[in-house]
Formats: sequence, structure tokens, C-alpha cells
Amino acid sequence: VFAPVMSLAFMGKALAEDAQRWAVNMPKGVTPVSNAIYDIHMIIFWICVVIGVGVFAVMFYSMFAHRKSKGAVAANFHENTTAEIVWTVIPALLLIVMAVPATTALLDVYDTTEAEMDIKITGYQWKWQYEYLGEDVAFMSELTTPEEEIYNTAPKSQYYLQEVSQALVLPAKTKVRFLITAKDVIHSWWVVDLGVKKDAIPGLVNETWAYIEEPGIYRGECAELCGKGHAFMPIVVNVLPKEEYNAWLAKKKEEVAAERELAKKTFTLDELMAQGEAAYNRSCASCHGSNGEGIPGVFPGLKGSAIATGDVAAHLDIVVNGKAGTAMQAFGGQLSEVDLAAIITYERNAWGNSTGDLVQPLD
Ligand code: CUA
Repeated sequence: VFAPVMSLAFMGKALAEDAQRWAVNMPKGVTPVSNAIYDIHMIIFWICVVIGVGVFAVMFYSMFAHRKSKGAVAANFHENTTAEIVWTVIPALLLIVMAVPATTALLDVYDTTEAEMDIKITGYQWKWQYEYLGEDVAFMSELTTPEEEIYNTAPKSQYYLQEVSQALVLPAKTKVRFLITAKDVIHSWWVVDLGVKKDAIPGLVNETWAYIEEPGIYRGECAELCGKGHAFMPIVVNVLPKEEYNAWLAKKKEEVAAERELAKKTFTLDELMAQGEAAYNRSCASCHGSNGEGIPGVFPGLKGSAIATGDVAAHLDIVVNGKAGTAMQAFGGQLSEVDLAAIITYERNAWGNSTGDLVQPLD
């Protein structure tokens, strides 16, 4: 008896010590909602522990105490009122104990009223766009850790540590409402520490919110299978104290203003070609090929195509608004005006048999 009891005790101790490192329990998170969810989880967990221990104790006791019985007759509880009352009232009470906090938390999860700021989140294959509504600030956030590096060097537990081009920056102690949608297929915006997981569905805007108590960096992933890059669609939320957030926002607005100024300038063909080639390789080449030949049978080539040789406005329309029913995304919200103009200029002059088609950003 001694050996198994001791080894169980050691296992229990090791589990308790390592619980944090192994993350065997759900994390508590940093919002009132995530804390409420954690508390419900623990209430239900302990109820299950008590029931489990009770049931197994009775079972093992019966097996041990009556191990030598032969030809025993089962006890008969038929129409025993006391037993029926006990096994109805106890589960009913347990359900009430679980349902009250669960319902309260659920109502809280859906209460997006009185938010102090709104962030629109749009899922794309395979990146997120964050728009600070009313602030005129928007940017894409995509994986910058090379996929090969993740596959080849990181142990699986570090898939978690995928870096992005630009984190979603939020102020602490502020009620932030998230308006979540998608432009191509269904994604899901999921950050465990915020207690938030919400589907991003094309043509529909889902709402949720967070009041983040602690500044820090919180990580998540897309949680809806969305194609080849699903495992590489990380979310990084950088929560700053309010004053630092305000300083960040002011700086970001200056950057936007500077970009606007830049778009007013008149570009030369050489300038647009150089910028267009770089932007094309970043945003278009993965489907249309770095040489404009596309992927035969899958993605159309642009070299000498009707798009690249035809009307500029029609060409621009496809790039800005995408093409319904195909994998061609709308790049209007993703690329700056200068990049859009440069890409069109580049595609027409490199593969449209044109020498000198020039599309200025503000045209
Ligand atoms: Cu986006 Cu999975």
C-alpha cells in the first residue's frame, strides 16, 4: 500500500510545482471576462473532483469490502422516495451553483455597450488588418518569422512565438470594442489572455470587447481553419499604459500624415517602377509569379494579359476591389496609395507591352 500512495503523492507534488510551466490549467487572463470564465471553470472542476472522488471511493470500497461475497443479492431501492428526492435535489442545486455565474458571465461577454474605443479587425488569408475607428489609423499585421524557421528550428511549443510586422497596440484599463469581420474566408480572432475568441466572417460584423487590466504582450492565433497559412496567422496585442498609448497613437497619426503628403508628390516613371517592383514582389508575386507568368492552371499570368494591356481604370478596379468569386483579394485597404499606383504602373510597363504608362497616386 505504501509504495503506490507515495508515488501518487510525488506525482501530485510534481504536477502542482510544474502546473505553471506545463500550463496544465487554463490561464486566468487579464480581463474581468477571462477571470470570470476562469472562476466558473474552477467551480465546475472542483464539483467534478468531489463527485469523482465520491463515486470512486464507494466503488473501490464496495469491491474491497465485499471481495469474498458469493451469491449476494442486490439491494432493492424501487420507489424509494428518500433516494429519489436526494438524487433530484442535489443535481438541481449543483446546476444552479454552475448556472448563476455562467449566465452572469455570458451576459457580460455580450455587453459591448459603453466602449471607450472601437477597433475594426479584418481577417485576410493570412494576416489581420487593424483599424482604429475615428482615428484614421489602420495597418496590416502579418507573420514576419520565416515559416521555414518555425518548421525547422522551433520546438512545437514555440509555434506560439511567431512575430508580426506590427502588433495591435491598445491602452490598458480601457473598454475596447472589437468589430470583427473578414474579406475572403472565415477566420477567428482568438487571444486566450483576453478571454476573446470571435469568428471573423465575410459579410458579417461580430462584436466583442476587452478591458485589459495589465500592460503586456498577449499572443493568439487564428482559430478557424482558413487555408494553407492558417497555422501562420498570429495575433500579437501590445497593451500599454494609457499615456504611452496616447503617445504611440500621436506618432502613428504623424506617420499617416507623412504618407498622405508623399502621395501628393509627382513621381517619375523610374521611381514608380522601382517602388512597384518591390510592392509587387511583396503582395502579388506569391500568386502571379515574380516574372508575371502566374501559376498555370491556378493563378492567371499578367504578362501580355488583357488586364495588363487593357484599360487602366479596369486594371485598378481589380487590384483595389478584388475579383468576386476568385482568390483575388481587395488590396485597396491593404496597400498605400503610392504602392497601389506603383504596382499598376509596374505591371503595365513590365508586362503590358507599354513603355511609359504612369499612374500617379492621387489620379
Ligand atoms: Cu485565418 Cu485560420
